[in-house]
Amino acid sequence: MTKRLLMTSDLPGTLWQLTDGMLVLPAALSSVYCTMLMDKNLMHQARNADSDEGPVGGVKEEDTRRHFASRFSGSSARVQLAVLDPKDHLRNTSDLFVKAFSGGKIGLLDVPCGAGAASAALLGCIAELRKAKVLPREPLEVFLVCGEISTYARSYAEELLDGMGKELEREGIWIKKKSVPWNVLDAESTTSILYAWMDWARDCREYFVVMANFSGFLQGQGKLNDAKPQLDEIIRWAASRRSSVFWIEPQTNLAVKGLIPRILAWFGLRLPSRFRQQWGTEKSIAGSDALFQHPVRVDSRPPVRLSLIRLEASEP
Ligand SMILES: C[S@@+](CC[C@H](N)C(=O)[O-])C[C@H]1O[C@@H](n2cnc3c(N)ncnc32)[C@H](O)[C@@H]1O
Repeated sequence: MTKRLLMTSDLPGTLWQLTDGMLVLPAALSSVYCTMLMDKNLMHQARNADSDEGPVGGVKEEDTRRHFASRFSGSSARVQLAVLDPKDHLRNTSDLFVKAFSGGKIGLLDVPCGAGAASAALLGCIAELRKAKVLPREPLEVFLVCGEISTYARSYAEELLDGMGKELEREGIWIKKKSVPWNVLDAESTTSILYAWMDWARDCREYFVVMANFSGFLQGQGKLNDAKPQLDEIIRWAASRRSSVFWIEPQTNLAVKGLIPRILAWFGLRLPSRFRQQWGTEKSIAGSDALFQHPVRVDSRPPVRLSLIRLEASEP
């Protein structure tokens, strides 16, 4: 097996505690998360919630509040697990993240962004690796488009990423973000968000699409078939931009027995040619698991489990 760019032994204790097999959320992320929980009167709820329980988000303010208090930290840890791959379960996945976010201009599409867990965990990890001098501090501009149906979740994501801005800038990372209303069931809003991404993230060195924790809505609420034409459109545009696509889901029954086999069957038939060459190899689907230090329950180390579907562009 080829040597990874980011070896487990390189990971700083501020992100991965080897002896406990435990992830620690990036400091820039957890400190803003705690401040937001206090400002929004959600700290008590977050301290008492089960990270695997609670709503999967939705359009109402209460949905966003409950998701933020209960599931947000698990969603962040799941993305961190994909980015760092501390147990070496995910082939060269961490290399793709590390190479793409090493410097220059990057275009990132985060859908649905919810309260921003995926982008915040990804950029928080890169910042922490730079701080620990594992990665060089090359200037990095991230042209980020966040799409999401809930106005409340979009505003939480903006607040979170704005709150992390100073800490990221100290590590040479600038986020240029645009937040866009998006409904995966609506063709027009999908074309609009893709237009926004084309327009906002121009001439980037690399493009990335992250879709995280969507199984509750797509499988749990039976919406996958209605969403497929719009997801197909996203994937076609991602292919044209030679993007890497990461679809990150938990290892719940809903995801593992429901959504993921359906995605695999659908991708097997419908992928754009740029993604087809790599598809079906051992890199396309993988899983991992770890514990994570809960950011507000000091004695709690809940498990986090990940299923990852990866699309990598190759020359047609
Ligand atoms: C479990 S959250 C995941 C959010 C984020 N990716 C994360 O990892 O925390 C699912 C998100 O899907 C959003 N959502 C629900 N229905 C949607 C729709 N029709 N179109 C777009 N987003 C939707 C919810 O508002 C919620 O924020």
